[in-house]
Amino acid sequence: MAFKHAVIEKNSILLLVLTLLVVSIGGLVEIAPLFYLESTIEKVKGMRPYSPLELAGRNIYIREGCYNCHSQMIRPLRDEEERYGHYSLAAESMYDHPFQWGSKRTGPDLARVGGRYSDDWHVAHMNNPRSVVPESIMPGYPYLAETPLRIPDMAAHLRANRAVGVPYDDGMVEAAEADLLAQVSPDTEEADALLERYPGAKVADFDGNPAVLSELDAMIAYLQMLGTLVDFEAYEPEADYR
Ligand code: HEC
Repeated sequence: MAFKHAVIEKNSILLLVLTLLVVSIGGLVEIAPLFYLESTIEKVKGMRPYSPLELAGRNIYIREGCYNCHSQMIRPLRDEEERYGHYSLAAESMYDHPFQWGSKRTGPDLARVGGRYSDDWHVAHMNNPRSVVPESIMPGYPYLAETPLRIPDMAAHLRANRAVGVPYDDGMVEAAEADLLAQVSPDTEEADALLERYPGAKVADFDGNPAVLSELDAMIAYLQMLGTLVDFEAYEPEADYR
C-alpha cells in the first residue's frame, strides 16, 4: 500500500487530480441535496411581509446605521433566551432584504423588542435615550420626529422586494401608499383593509403627532412589530436544534 502511495506522491499531476476528486466528493455530498430541497427555511405560521410603513421604518433603520450597535438575532443560548425571548427562527428573517442580524451588540438585541415598550417610550427614547435610560450611551435621533416621511416610491419598493421573492401581491402593491397612510389612522375603513392584507399590524399614531406623518412614525411602527409575528405559545419546531 505504502509502495503504491509513492507513485502518487512522486507524480504531482496525479496527486492534484486525485486530491480534487476527493475534495469534490465532500462538496457534492453537501451541495447536491440543496438542489432537491424546495426551501431550507421551515415555514412558520404568522410570518407575513412587512407593511409599507414598517418597510419604510426599516429603511430608516438601515440608513441610520442602527445595525452598527444592535443585532437582530437571538442565539439558542440560555442567557440570550432568558434576556430576549425565544431564539430567532430562520423564517423570521425570510422577508429581510438585506437581513439585519448584525455583528455587534453595543446595545441590546432588537429581534423581539416589539411590544416591549409603549409608543410613548420609543418617542422619548428616540428623541433622547437618556430621558428614559439615564446611563444610556445611545445617540439621540430627534430629527426623525421633525422629518416628514417621503413616500413617493412605496409601490416601486414593494415591487423591488417582490422581485427578490417577497410575496407581495398586486393588491398590496396597488394599495402601498394608501396602506402606509392607513397605519397611522386608527379606526378607519382604510385601516381595516390594511389589517386584512397585513394581519397583526399595529395601527396607531406612533409619534403622538397626528399632524405629520414623520420618519419617527415609520421607525416606531417597525420597532413595534419586530419579533411579534410568530406566536410562540402555538409554535412547535419540526426539530429542536439545541
Ligand atoms: C452607538 C450605539 C448605538 C446606536 C448607533 C443605536 N443604539 Fe439603540 N441602544 C444602544 C444602547 C447602548 C442601548 C441600551 C440603553 C438604552 O436603552 O438606551 C440601546 C437601546 C435601544 C433600544 C431599547 C432596547 C431594549 O430592549 O431596551 C431601542 C429600541 C433602540 N436602541 C433602537 C435604536 C435604533 C432604532 C437606532 C437607530 C436609529 C439605534 N438604536 C442606534 C446603542 C445604540
